[in-house]
Amino acid sequence: MNVIGRCVFASNFNSLQSDNSDTPLLYYSKKLFDINLTSPAIMLLLSFPNLCYLYQRITKRAVMQQDVDEFFIKTLTEVMEQRLKDPEAKNNYNDAVQLLLNAMEETEETETPKATVSQLSESDEKRTDKRKTLTKMEILAQLVLFLVAGYETTATTLHFIIYVLAQYPDIQDKLRDEVKEIFGDCGKEEIEFEDLSKLIYMNAVIDETLRIFPPATRLVRLCQKETEIQGIKFAKDSSFTAPIYAIHHNPEIYENPEEFIPERFLPDEISARHPMAFLPFGAGPRSCLGMRFAEYEIRVTLIWLIKSFKFLSADEKLPWPVELGMGGGLLKSKHELKCKIVKL
Ligand code: HEM
Repeated sequence: MNVIGRCVFASNFNSLQSDNSDTPLLYYSKKLFDINLTSPAIMLLLSFPNLCYLYQRITKRAVMQQDVDEFFIKTLTEVMEQRLKDPEAKNNYNDAVQLLLNAMEETEETETPKATVSQLSESDEKRTDKRKTLTKMEILAQLVLFLVAGYETTATTLHFIIYVLAQYPDIQDKLRDEVKEIFGDCGKEEIEFEDLSKLIYMNAVIDETLRIFPPATRLVRLCQKETEIQGIKFAKDSSFTAPIYAIHHNPEIYENPEEFIPERFLPDEISARHPMAFLPFGAGPRSCLGMRFAEYEIRVTLIWLIKSFKFLSADEKLPWPVELGMGGGLLKSKHELKCKIVKL
């Protein structure tokens, strides 16, 4: 949460130091994920998005979580206002807020005088077709999307990795050996970008975790023109699903799919498989925008954790394979996954 807060919202979430009530950012971010997919409002939103749009336009209220919407609009507008007032912001910041404002300004500069947030159009309606500037709402929506798409997915993956390491001590030792080999026993303090590509076994552990526990279990696509693939016809405007979870657990692709075997993701093994056999981040032009970000975030976090702590399985043993269900649209364990942590 702190990483996304700093990189996306240019703010400190203080998620490790405070309880929810202390920082409104943390409170509302958590509330954002508190979504019940079977609630009538969500069902309505998913089934009739145009109806929801109409409702919002008429009432000027969000269909759900009005307070969350208001909070993010107010907070992010303030951050954007501050940045637009600061002449040095472009040089001083490189977070998502600044990158999106730069993108907006580049087009603004060529077409209209410099804008303030209040002057930016609030919705697509007010934008003429020719101008490709971002509206305030588009920038806000992107920032909140980064939080929604980036926080829970990465946190859940790290949670599963730690749980798996506690269940498989040999794999954990091997991983720690690799980290020690690169960073030394006494521990190099800084992690260089180049170091990350040397972590071959760590990558394999992460990918095997994402294979068994892909946070997004399926992809959805809309067919934009009539297409035929291997004799199967897809009509224009039909939607179809790529079942990530089923592909990752297909015994014809992965022998003994329920076994945790990181070696499946060593470089030679990967190149022997079809590229679409592993889809945790999706594929094609609409694949995960934050894939590299997530990969590096997970690796850096794991390096520090594995250097400092040993993970042991909890007294209360759960059966393997882990019993899974869905929570907030993502794959989750049905039971709380616990382990013991020992400081090294
Ligand atoms: C382990 C971590 C993550 C996993 C497993 C994951 C997975 C995915 C998947 C499966 C999709 C749909 C791709 C498709 O339809 O082909 C997606 C989309 C997306 N992800 Fe991630 N994601 C992760 C982390 C992140 C992070 C850290 C961010 C941002 C900081 C992010 C931002 C996005 C965005 C913006 C999209 C929508 C892209 C589009 O529609 O063009 N994700 N992600």
